[in-house]
Amino acid sequence: MTYFTEQRSVEAVVERTNLDANPRLAQVMTSLIEHLHAFAKDVALTESEWEYAITFLTSTGQLCSQERQEFILLSDVLGLSMLVDAINHRRPTGATDSTVFGPFHVKGAPIRDMGENITLDGKGESCQFTGRVVDLSGSPIAGACVDVWSDNADGYYDVQQPGIQPQWNNRGRFITGTDGTYAFRGIKPTSYPIPDDGPVGALLSALGRHPYRPAHMHFLITAANHERLVTHTFAAGDEYLGSDAVFGVKHSLVTSYERADQDTVWRCNFDFVLTPDTTDSPPSTPPSPR
Ligand code: BEZ
Ligand code: FE
Repeated sequence: MTYFTEQRSVEAVVERTNLDANPRLAQVMTSLIEHLHAFAKDVALTESEWEYAITFLTSTGQLCSQERQEFILLSDVLGLSMLVDAINHRRPTGATDSTVFGPFHVKGAPIRDMGENITLDGKGESCQFTGRVVDLSGSPIAGACVDVWSDNADGYYDVQQPGIQPQWNNRGRFITGTDGTYAFRGIKPTSYPIPDDGPVGALLSALGRHPYRPAHMHFLITAANHERLVTHTFAAGDEYLGSDAVFGVKHSLVTSYERADQDTVWRCNFDFVLTPDTTDSPPSTPPSPR
């Protein structure tokens, strides 16, 4: 038995854990306690700083609801979400990189016909999105579900403006055919601030950081026998590419938007390369075309 002292703080706490009860929990909590105590010692945490942290975490939790997840936002701005994604999705060369999921995906978006317009509020500069969903050998994947979502021209997702934007504005699902291609019309996305009216926004401002994300289009791609891909394409030239508030930018995901010939419409072409599903779980079944 170890009495608690500053020097032996970790041992005093860790030795109470029953290592056999839940070995993985014991491993995770032991490491967490080691790092937490090392951190408090490293910065010589004051009592008022500890109290401030408790208040900060309390208000972060109090802001969480069905519509808002301030804790995930905190994880995002600390780079933890991207780190967990990187650790869990070490993709083979040639596969499309993943990035942060974000809080604005909504399950069950309408399944639309290939080429259909997802922009229902008529705002923004129209953009034609095209590309292919292929496997590592470059073969087309038929029946892949390409679930897309973006903010509107004012920088808000439909779920942030119920009653102002039409439901499902700038969202849709598209099912690839035998050639693996997808096509839809949306808008050239705009950069926008993550929700910054809560504790996470206050933290960013106290750290001298801005809350902006560079313009991007979200993609969630699922296909039988392949790992699901959560990613974005980012607009080349955006002023926030080098300082994304949530660290989501990867070089391979930055793509150019071109003006279509004799048209005011933009064009963005991007191919997605999926990896085979290596888990034992049954493959996710994409919804069938309507
Ligand atoms: C997004 O891209 O929608 C997003 C990602 C992380 C935090 C907030 C928003
Ligand atoms: Fe986004």
